Amino acid sequence: MHIAIVTSGGDAPGTNSALRAVARCAIAKGVKVSGVVGSWQGVVDGRYLELSHEHLAGIVRTGGTILRSSRTPLLTADGDAEKIARLLKQHSIDAVVVIGGDGSHRGAAKLANTGFPVVAVPKTIDNDLGGTDLTIGFCTAVETATTAIDRIRTHTESNDRVMVIEVMGRNAGWIATYAGLASGADLILVPEFSWSLDTIASHLQQRHNERGRDFSLIVVAEGARNSAEDIQLADDRRVDHLGRSFLGGIGNHLATLIEDRVGFESRCTTLGYLLRGGAPIAEDRILATRLGAAAADTLLNGASDLSVAWRGGSVDFVPLSDVNQAHKVVDEATYRLAARFN
Ligand code: F6P
Repeated sequence: MHIAIVTSGGDAPGTNSALRAVARCAIAKGVKVSGVVGSWQGVVDGRYLELSHEHLAGIVRTGGTILRSSRTPLLTADGDAEKIARLLKQHSIDAVVVIGGDGSHRGAAKLANTGFPVVAVPKTIDNDLGGTDLTIGFCTAVETATTAIDRIRTHTESNDRVMVIEVMGRNAGWIATYAGLASGADLILVPEFSWSLDTIASHLQQRHNERGRDFSLIVVAEGARNSAEDIQLADDRRVDHLGRSFLGGIGNHLATLIEDRVGFESRCTTLGYLLRGGAPIAEDRILATRLGAAAADTLLNGASDLSVAWRGGSVDFVPLSDVNQAHKVVDEATYRLAARFN
């Protein structure tokens, strides 16, 4: 038996921990394991790295991915999946584990539909994949954001400023909600719940005038630009090579609007790619090891067309089609809980 591992999409802390778990568990069962270098393009280019204990030593604790990653249009067009399946077979590969987010899960489903055995492992800092309570990388991103916001707070409090902190979160505001809750943010703006400049302004004025608070911290998810009720953001028409719009920028825009409206000195800090970087925290290492080991076991037992999920405190398996049905968004109870401390 010979399996391949593909890391695909945006990198997230814990990817190496997951691929190590898949490879170690498969190698222990006498399986040959090849890492594909450079996501699906590596299959086209024939870039494989046969993984041994030497490659895997120590990577449970490192950020990034030793196999590199990219967002690729491969597996989106008709015929791509058949081509990838053919190339994998030519390289004598019997099955694949894909570690990735929503785009990677959609690609994995297409490959599985050709009959090629595939199991996916959910990994994205955004935590917006269906079927699983947690995705690999999310907890580390929340930790990084919380630490950063705590640091920004000391500056903001000392200088009587309004600070808007922009975090990643394209379709869902998980990072903004969790980091905002953990750091005691004064307002949290996410794509799931609409908001307005009017309510921000009155909240800030009330804090300043009635509660004597001369500073405020606002955490905004990049995707919240689409849930604003009364402001029109400058239309950024730039799209990436997959046609996805560039979302960053709402934080700066908001800081300017707030200063103009309420007169309080306002600034923005964008955390951006910082949230994808660095070593995974223990929670992500453990999640990645659990999901990676389960992916190897189920694939070697003959399963396919599944994503390995973390649900209700244990490992579960969900059909890839279920994962791809809809993004998992922030639930109202958690968002409202955070709002009670505004
Ligand atoms: O998917 C995770 C994510 O962090 C999104 O929140 C963000 O929009 C995106 O990555 C940007 O990444 P890239 O520039 O790599 O496409």
